[in-house]
Amino acid sequence: MMIKTRMPTQSKEHPNLWVFEHPVIQEKLTRIRNLNTQHSEFRRLLNEISGLMFFQISRDYKTTTVDVETPIERTTGQQLSHPITLVPILRAGVGMTDGILSMIPEARVGHIGVYRDEETKQPVPYYCKLPTDISSGPVLLIDPMLATGGSASYAARLLEEDYCCTQIKMVCLVVSPEGVAKMQSEHPNIPIYTASLDRCLNEDGYILPGLGDAGDRIFGTL
Ligand code: PRP
Ligand code: URA
Repeated sequence: MMIKTRMPTQSKEHPNLWVFEHPVIQEKLTRIRNLNTQHSEFRRLLNEISGLMFFQISRDYKTTTVDVETPIERTTGQQLSHPITLVPILRAGVGMTDGILSMIPEARVGHIGVYRDEETKQPVPYYCKLPTDISSGPVLLIDPMLATGGSASYAARLLEEDYCCTQIKMVCLVVSPEGVAKMQSEHPNIPIYTASLDRCLNEDGYILPGLGDAGDRIFGTL
């Protein structure tokens, strides 16, 4: 029996990738992968995993010391120094956002709409609404699937170049080696956190073993 002490673990092959091998997360991921898991349970499990991952991902967020008056006496405590912005990539990223908001309800939520053209596999942008001062704090880019990396790289470029964000992390449920390598070469300063580094992509650009089409499974549009 192997007991993992580091949490999450940095991938040996991909310096930009951190994998959550925690048994509770892995058990939930296995249920998500199962083709018999229906959308309501799929959504619940995905949100649970997202909240658990966020708890660790946010561990280096900066805090400021503040005074606080308890019913007994005055003391000091901590408050987050900068506003946190969650940025789900529509539509599947929405399936992870509530789980993270349950940990940090005060986070702001921006949206980037981009879908993958099924023929060309290229990202097709269609929506963007972000806080104008998004670069003033940490940004968490959210998408359960990192496949070719086209959608994530498009969103990351928008955040880095158009909105001048420098404190970006990305959280995914499952990633492919191809997608992680593309992000490493195009956005080396964005660490990616995931529950699984899967094997590869198939000829249709789907992750193997993966879990199928995340958006369809989250929203029951199969
Ligand atoms: C899925 C997924 C990612 C993208 C990953 O979205 O949620 O955004 O594919 O693929 P890529 O890494 O090759 O770009 P999809 O395009 O199916 O849109 P949807 O969420 O609206 O269903
Ligand atoms: N998008 C998905 O939803 N699943 C994949 O496996 C690849 C892209």
